[in-house]
Amino acid sequence: MAKPSFPTSLPTASWPLIRRVFRLYVRPYLGSLGAAVLLMLLAAAMTGAMAKLMEPIIDKVFTQRDQSMLWPVAGAVMTVFVVRGFATYGHTVIMNKLAQRSIADIQRDMFAHLVYADLAFFHGQQSGMLLSRFVSDVNQIRSALLQSMTGLGKNLFTLVFLLGVMFYQDWKLTLISIFAFPAAAFFVARLGKKLRKVSTNTQVEMGQLTSMLGQAFQGSKHVKSYGMEEFEKTRVNKNIDRILRLMHRAFRVSASATPISEALSGLAIVTIIVYGGMQVIAGESTAGKLFSFIAAFLLAYEPMKRLAQLNNVMQMGLAAVDRLFQLLDQPPSIADRPDAVTLAAKNPAIIFDDVRFTYADGTEALQGVSFTVPAGKTAALVGESGSGKSTILNLIPRFYDVTAGQIRIDDTDIRDVTIKSLRGSMALVSQEVAIFNDAVRDNIAYGTEGATEEQIIAAAKNAAAHDFIMELPQGYDTIVGENGVKLSGGQRQRISIARAMLRNAPLLLLDEATSALDTQSERLVQSALERLQEGRTTIVVAHRLSTIMDADIIYVLKEGRIVETGKHEDLLAAGGYYSRLYGNLIRESA
Ligand SMILES: Nc1ncnc2c1ncn2[C@@H]1O[C@H](COP(=O)(O)OP(=O)(O)O)[C@@H](O)[C@H]1O
Ligand SMILES: [Mg+2]
Repeated sequence: MAKPSFPTSLPTASWPLIRRVFRLYVRPYLGSLGAAVLLMLLAAAMTGAMAKLMEPIIDKVFTQRDQSMLWPVAGAVMTVFVVRGFATYGHTVIMNKLAQRSIADIQRDMFAHLVYADLAFFHGQQSGMLLSRFVSDVNQIRSALLQSMTGLGKNLFTLVFLLGVMFYQDWKLTLISIFAFPAAAFFVARLGKKLRKVSTNTQVEMGQLTSMLGQAFQGSKHVKSYGMEEFEKTRVNKNIDRILRLMHRAFRVSASATPISEALSGLAIVTIIVYGGMQVIAGESTAGKLFSFIAAFLLAYEPMKRLAQLNNVMQMGLAAVDRLFQLLDQPPSIADRPDAVTLAAKNPAIIFDDVRFTYADGTEALQGVSFTVPAGKTAALVGESGSGKSTILNLIPRFYDVTAGQIRIDDTDIRDVTIKSLRGSMALVSQEVAIFNDAVRDNIAYGTEGATEEQIIAAAKNAAAHDFIMELPQGYDTIVGENGVKLSGGQRQRISIARAMLRNAPLLLLDEATSALDTQSERLVQSALERLQEGRTTIVVAHRLSTIMDADIIYVLKEGRIVETGKHEDLLAAGGYYSRLYGNLIRESA
């Protein structure tokens, strides 16, 4: 009867979850758990002793006025409290540490999984949702872990000791009065399912809140320039209101068992007083025995309630655990084949062979693209916005896998080599520059292990970045802020070019690498990029004529297909789509 609700009201699917959490995140700390359990036993025994001590206090000291018992009883009471205090301190600290370590392990596992997840996965998720799993879900799991393990251990033991005292004092009265326990437990336990649902909804809302806050803060400039402060305020307020309501509902649900269980225990106490009182009056029992019994009953009430509530806490935790494992169980769709080999391309040629690609949302971005970039040559991709240029570049490092067709480097399908060696053999500079909140030096060296100071500076000089870096407050040690907010767009771009320079990879992918630069620094970077392209196989997406004209071959894209191929002059002379795209530009710059 001590854990009446626990095995029956958990849905069967919960058990595998619990086992998995235990196996992965608790078992490594079994030693600590053992120590905590021993201390819980000790604390529980002291609670039992407290109830038992009521008997000599009432009978010997108060009723019989036995002087010789006064100090021993007082000493015993003091000892019981001190021991219980230390034992409780011990198991609380140990269990807390255990739970924190388990949670740290969970967070590590989550990040280790997410950092390898595909781009498609991230595009399908709101980053706020992911953040919320790290913070709020994990907290939910922590408190469930703590409360369930402490709850099971300490409360169960306490209940056992107190019941022991009750049985010892009067087994018949015990059997009569304990009806209140399972009855109260039943009501408390019935709330579990409701709570789990409320909890899931709360987590979803929390994720949305994190997501909205992130967007509003990151896009603060846009929020202001479009005068959307009120709109954002209303949107966030609505979300906070929903969370408030859910939190309140969760609390109301979990508190709704109180009136019933209070009435039940009142009934039980009345029974004890009437039945026990009659025995004391008849001289069949002593006041001390009855009082000790009542003390044990009252003390047992709290652990009993805790045990019954355990299910509710577990339900909330399990909702979070469920989401955690769903995340961890999602395998990355882009992974090494078991027999993947290391790509050793010093001077690679790239071949697209009837490549088709459809995004997860159904956009058919590439509809049968075939082209070749000979080793050491530069190919330019041109076409209107949305024609599929970036998609082509993203397929080469396998950010996405082709839907049909094949991409080869030399004679090897890129899906037959390890992702590490594939990505290690190329450098990508794109429109979206990633700058980390770190020193400039580390941003340039990102992805190049063991780069020396000279190499970093040489790369920066080549990328026309050295001069502006030297003007920063701490030079190469300057921390550039989240997303590099302390740098201009052109400066960020030049750092990312320096990063590609330093990487010194045989294959170069440039996606409008100079689009964020002003004319002056573009000229600097342009000549740097030309140096970088020497002897490397390069695919460049560009709008600027100078870049296109220098390419060895131009592929003209339209709606996911290559419609024209050739050198700049030939394409112009042919008078087709390309000449319409670039004819105006030529006349303007001429
Ligand atoms: N992550 C994505 N999810 C869905 N559709 C996308 C995604 N990225 C690009 N697209 C679509 O694919 C097509 C080609 O886009 P893209 O390769 O970026 O063109 P370009 O770089 O030539 O401007 C466009 O229709 C675009 O809307
Ligand atoms: Mg693009």
